[in-house]
Amino acid sequence: MKIAVFGLGYVGCVSATCFAGEGHEVVGVDVNPEKVRIINEGKSPIVEPGLDEKIAGVVAEGRLRATTDFFEAVANSDLALICVGTPSEKNGSVRLDYIYRVAEQIGEVLADLDKYYVFVIRSTVLPGALNLCMNIIAEKSGKRPGEDFGGCSNPEFLREGSALKDFYAPPYTVIGEYDQRSGDVLAQLYTKIDAPLIRTEVKVSEMVKYASNVFHAVKVAFGNEMGVICKQEGVDSHKLMEIFCMDDKLNLSPYYLKPGFAFGGSCLPKDVRAITYHARKKDLQLPLLNSIMPSNRSHVERSIDLVLAHGKKKITVLGISFKSNTDDLRESPMVDVVETLIGKGYDLRIYDRNVHLAKLFGANKEYITQKIPHISKLMVETIEEALDHGDLIIIGNNSAEFKEAIKNIREDQVVIDYVRILKEIDDARKNYEGLCW
Ligand SMILES: NC(=O)c1ccc[n+]([C@@H]2O[C@H](COP(=O)([O-])OP(=O)(O)OC[C@H]3O[C@@H](n4cnc5c(N)ncnc54)[C@H](O)[C@@H]3O)[C@@H](O)[C@H]2O)c1
Repeated sequence: MKIAVFGLGYVGCVSATCFAGEGHEVVGVDVNPEKVRIINEGKSPIVEPGLDEKIAGVVAEGRLRATTDFFEAVANSDLALICVGTPSEKNGSVRLDYIYRVAEQIGEVLADLDKYYVFVIRSTVLPGALNLCMNIIAEKSGKRPGEDFGGCSNPEFLREGSALKDFYAPPYTVIGEYDQRSGDVLAQLYTKIDAPLIRTEVKVSEMVKYASNVFHAVKVAFGNEMGVICKQEGVDSHKLMEIFCMDDKLNLSPYYLKPGFAFGGSCLPKDVRAITYHARKKDLQLPLLNSIMPSNRSHVERSIDLVLAHGKKKITVLGISFKSNTDDLRESPMVDVVETLIGKGYDLRIYDRNVHLAKLFGANKEYITQKIPHISKLMVETIEEALDHGDLIIIGNNSAEFKEAIKNIREDQVVIDYVRILKEIDDARKNYEGLCW
């Protein structure tokens, strides 16, 4: 395939060189004539192990060249990989103007060309950037997106220092496609790359890159803060993290990474408080760990605000324990939600099979009837009775019976799902709202 790579910085140089090495005909475009000259001399403008030799090879074979002339580059290619910078402003906002400038340039060229072209963003951009570029290209060229030209988001996951290795063995290749035809063209570039190929919606793809980098940052900060506590306590932090990382069921796993409701229960809040209080006493600064309880609290407030915004006074709560299949109400964030709504004068009915049984016979009987009698007296025995009451229904935990029940609710009832009980939102009714999806 004939490829134009816009932006010969780190990502552009590695992408241009590696795709040329895969047998594609690549032209690199940069506004900096110095970078263009260096590449055309068969050298690397960036420092990266192995890149100098690889560039020398593909330039000598005539599969990679560079230019400052974007017009010529687009005219002689079928697809553009946009790798220009997206730096931070002083206030933290990301500058996307280089990306939009390239979209304008490509639009100008396509105005006079009669061929299908695919615009691909490799740079890290906020959700919505590709769609905006498609509009810019359409406006500049007078051509129709999806008909005359296509677009994809295709974020880059390489790490400086091991970029060549990462290019050939990334964790996965993500293609966010404007339409299937665009994705089909781009997917041809990856047939020889040994990694799962994921084709998805454009905005999901754009966001995957941010989720990855933010998570990596959280991991570094978490490891460092645990190390700070360990040093104070004379604990070997590396031994600790080695053991911690051996747990791939709960620690290094998809577990706990599904957007949903706040955490609760008898362990997580208690233990986060214990370790942060202990660190405070020792004057240790642990901003990440100290932010966990406030973050959880603000999520509970968000869940309450969502209910208030609907302005419906009669409310049904399905599930009040902190997760399904338990009757444990200690530190259930749903108890906070319910208490706030009662305090504001809302008319509630609560159904939770496990808590109802515990109220009658269980170990939690005393806690339920004596510590939270104001909640206990709002509990009803059957899900039908509960559903009959509310104009708004809150799904508070993942009990299987709730999933079935909300399929049959009345047209005038609104469901607010805190736990994503409906896995496929397309299946959901119109009067359904998720807490963070
Ligand atoms: N560096 C990394 O390890 C890495 C990894 C993954 C993703 N990313 C993302 O990839 C993007 C590029 O990063 P980088 O480090 O390669 O950037 P960089 O700043 O090193 O290089 C950007 C290049 O784009 C050129 N440029 C700007 N406007 C242009 C235009 N209109 N036409 C042609 N060239 C133009 C600049 O002259 C520069 O050479 C960023 O969004 C970054 O966040 C970077």
